[in-house]
Amino acid sequence: MGNKISKTSKKSTPLPSTNAQEDSDFRYIGGRRYHNVESLKYPLPNDDEELDRLHLQHFLLRYVWQRNFGAPVKHILNQDGTKALDVGCGAGSWIFEMASDYPNTQFTGLDISPIQPTEIKPKNVNFIKANLLNGLPFENDTFDYIFQRFLFSSIPKDSWPDVINELTRVLKPGGYLELVEINHIPFQLGPASIQLSIAVEKLHQLRDLDTQIPYKLRSYFEQQGNLENITEEKNRITYGPETGKLGQAGIENAMLVVSHLKTYLLEEMKMTSEEFDNNRDVIAKELREFDSYHDLRCVYARKKEIIEH
Ligand SMILES: C[S@@+](CC[C@H](N)C(=O)[O-])C[C@H]1O[C@@H](n2cnc3c(N)ncnc32)[C@H](O)[C@@H]1O
Repeated sequence: MGNKISKTSKKSTPLPSTNAQEDSDFRYIGGRRYHNVESLKYPLPNDDEELDRLHLQHFLLRYVWQRNFGAPVKHILNQDGTKALDVGCGAGSWIFEMASDYPNTQFTGLDISPIQPTEIKPKNVNFIKANLLNGLPFENDTFDYIFQRFLFSSIPKDSWPDVINELTRVLKPGGYLELVEINHIPFQLGPASIQLSIAVEKLHQLRDLDTQIPYKLRSYFEQQGNLENITEEKNRITYGPETGKLGQAGIENAMLVVSHLKTYLLEEMKMTSEEFDNNRDVIAKELREFDSYHDLRCVYARKKEIIEH
């Protein structure tokens, strides 16, 4: 990743108390901290600023959905010895809430970036560092419930079926798989927002990522063959004038993503840093004025008891 970016600057601030084993877990570009896996497309940083954004985004999503999960797993999560996995767990916002709501379940958070706290965490939570694209480091039929949210900017277009196979492999028969994805290009846009969206789309195409993934999840689940009771739910994060504080928080989140992608977008948009920042303020206003929204899909399914090979 980041072939175009040759200048690296390393922050001298100490690493936070996380499960990072070594400094080589990270790379630093333009004062921001990133994962250090050359082959990985994921473009967002993993520093404190981004972790704060992920927390904000989590609260936004919980409000939009009015829940933390959609699959019918409440009774499973209340049983002793249940095992749940959060793939690409990020800052751990979802997992910490779930671990507190369901103390009988043992939660595992997996992420390429070892940025999650190791000491101050509930005892029913553990984190591991792994690259989902290399396969999951678990035996077949390990988890009762698997959750994965917003991995669209990491999984290459053609790898989605393999990823869903892998998630299904480590799911117990009778267990549930749940994926939540966003179409990161909003709808109902003003002129500056359209220009930005074209640049963002190009960035993702160059990285071989699939921006239409929310609409393909259901059919990938169906093609997998060992998933049943497949359910798709639709939702939106809305930004229009009627949306009050929620809309403002959504716009703040969307603009933070834009800022965090700035390194990559500057060249594509042929703007100076100052022009980019001014343009971002225009976009924030447009999202409100044009009643823009981001489209969401949540798809969940049960793994068949009798597996077809
Ligand atoms: C947009 S964040 C979403 C975080 C979390 N799921 C949430 O909804 O708050 C994507 C996360 O996936 C992680 N990630 C990206 N590619 C990955 C990979 N190949 N294997 C494991 N984790 C990955 C990133 O480090 C990041 O924490």
